[in-house]
Amino acid sequence: MCGIIGYIGERQVLPVLLEGLRRLEYRGYDSAGVVFLEDGKINIIKVKGRVFDLEEKIFSELPKNPKSPGLGHTRWATHGEPSDENAHPHFDCKEMLAVVHNGIIENYYELKKELQERGHKFNSATDTEVIVHLVEDFINQGLDLKIAFFSALKRLKGAYAIGLISKENPEFIMVARNLSPVVIGLGEGENFLASDIPALLPFTKKVLFLNDGEVAILSKDKVEIFDLEGNRVKRDPVIITWDLASAEKGGFPHFLLKEIYEQPEAIKHTLLGRVDLDKRDIDFSKEGLEKEFLEDVEKIFIVACGTSYHAGLVAKYLIENNLKIPVEVDLASEFRYRSPLINSKTLFIAVSQSGETADTLAGLRLAKKMGAKILSICNVLGSTIARESEVVLYTQAGPEISVASTKAFVTQVLIFILFTLYLKKLFYKENEKREKLEALIKLPSVLEKFTKEVHSEVKKIAKKWYNVGNCLYLGRNILYPIALEGALKLKEISYIHAEGYAAGEMKHGPIALIEEDFPTVILAAKETGIIYEKTLSNAEEVKSRRGPIIAFVSENSEEFKKLSDDFVGIPLTFYEFLPIFYVIPLQLFAYEMAVLRGCDVDKPRNLAKSVTVE
Ligand code: F6R
Repeated sequence: MCGIIGYIGERQVLPVLLEGLRRLEYRGYDSAGVVFLEDGKINIIKVKGRVFDLEEKIFSELPKNPKSPGLGHTRWATHGEPSDENAHPHFDCKEMLAVVHNGIIENYYELKKELQERGHKFNSATDTEVIVHLVEDFINQGLDLKIAFFSALKRLKGAYAIGLISKENPEFIMVARNLSPVVIGLGEGENFLASDIPALLPFTKKVLFLNDGEVAILSKDKVEIFDLEGNRVKRDPVIITWDLASAEKGGFPHFLLKEIYEQPEAIKHTLLGRVDLDKRDIDFSKEGLEKEFLEDVEKIFIVACGTSYHAGLVAKYLIENNLKIPVEVDLASEFRYRSPLINSKTLFIAVSQSGETADTLAGLRLAKKMGAKILSICNVLGSTIARESEVVLYTQAGPEISVASTKAFVTQVLIFILFTLYLKKLFYKENEKREKLEALIKLPSVLEKFTKEVHSEVKKIAKKWYNVGNCLYLGRNILYPIALEGALKLKEISYIHAEGYAAGEMKHGPIALIEEDFPTVILAAKETGIIYEKTLSNAEEVKSRRGPIIAFVSENSEEFKKLSDDFVGIPLTFYEFLPIFYVIPLQLFAYEMAVLRGCDVDKPRNLAKSVTVE
């Protein structure tokens, strides 16, 4: 996720900005930049690369008399690939204003068109640049900066944390927040802003948090907070007691847990600009996924590794159930060395968080050579897989720092849900039911509550089982890939041997393992009807061999409550959303087991975040 630091006061501005940016490096980024006042003009210095590269550039340009206010930014690309031009800050046309932004402007496309028609010249491919031109446009209409800023915000849809400075009004920084965090640091005769607490810790521990739909005006001596209508808002300061390490993790003990808790937000960002509830519509056309591209597709291949492969397996159920197109899902390392039957009527979908996984990339190149249409689902903008694809649907999960994948997985599944519903609309003229779209929009808030509640239940259960040597995970249908994913999470972070199995396959082998100290995790959802009944029979088979059962099952299942040793109730939902609801407690279960075993959960032994070798 992008990082922001801002400063107004008497200190040397560049050291403050650079120190703030260094403290935000852990968030992951691809470019960095600063803006400050210099001899009556605004100077921007920015570069694709690390904060270190930015420092070198600043050093080589040797600004003469840099003064506050200043803003700094580390960018994690979402619109426009990583480059010097796309790095923040961004100017308006006359270089009177400069902006930094964290988030996604959902309606940037329409706004950009409108502003270009009014003569605004854009220098980047970012969504961010519309913000500064929009403010400029209101100033051109005669509004003063503050009113222009409020007016611009009212036109923006989406997520943003914004910092904006003006050459004409160096006495303040304008700040705004909607769905992306902003924290304001309070000093004596100086004030700060940041996207995250670590950037402020070297300077102050006294902070104010902005809420969604609020604007702050920072000057040296005061901070004023308003709502979007310009009404004053009172906010009491908070004293931060975290040290740097826990501040980076947002107060969580590990990045993995932070990222599990970030899943609702990742879902919210992935939905932005793609779902319109009023029109009951899902739209990927702006991202290049149009009817013509898909028209003659007769078969879909989904190719990926590890957790991303499990998202592909989920997609097979979604697509075949809804669209009646055959789907093959392959592990990339297998796909590239077999003879897949591919032609120009094949749609090849690569799924990759990093966009750099060697086997997935090789599979993509093979499919391309054989004439397939290439679509990818990636989390890293401008990654190799994204660049080599005809169409890319980005998961807006933000950077995953923990090696084990969590929020990338749920957003990959979400993209496949949206993809399926979108194709249903394109080819069957079926707009989705309003209830389902409403549930989709509400997912982030429902999941936020669910994650907290289920975490405390799972924690208790982990205490009972963390010493086991083996664990079997069973599921059927769309929960079968989730059994695989649950087992993968457990084995990779806790080093407990775990296997995921299709529940119906159990009696063809694994049943021989069942005994009193060999727990079986069973996933079953009432929403799946007969499949639920079948899974219940499999659970009976385990129980009759004295195998302990840890059930992750629909909350209203009296049968499983009686049968299982431990029961975690999962709320009822639509079939499509089951994988997301069921994977969260399994991620938390693996996490708690690993912590109790004293494992290095964020960096499990022998694993790399991005597997760029075969
Ligand atoms: C498991 C995990 C890995 C990755 C796999 C693919 O938690 O993180 O299994 O899912 O290495 O990586 P990407 O998605 O980057 O291609």
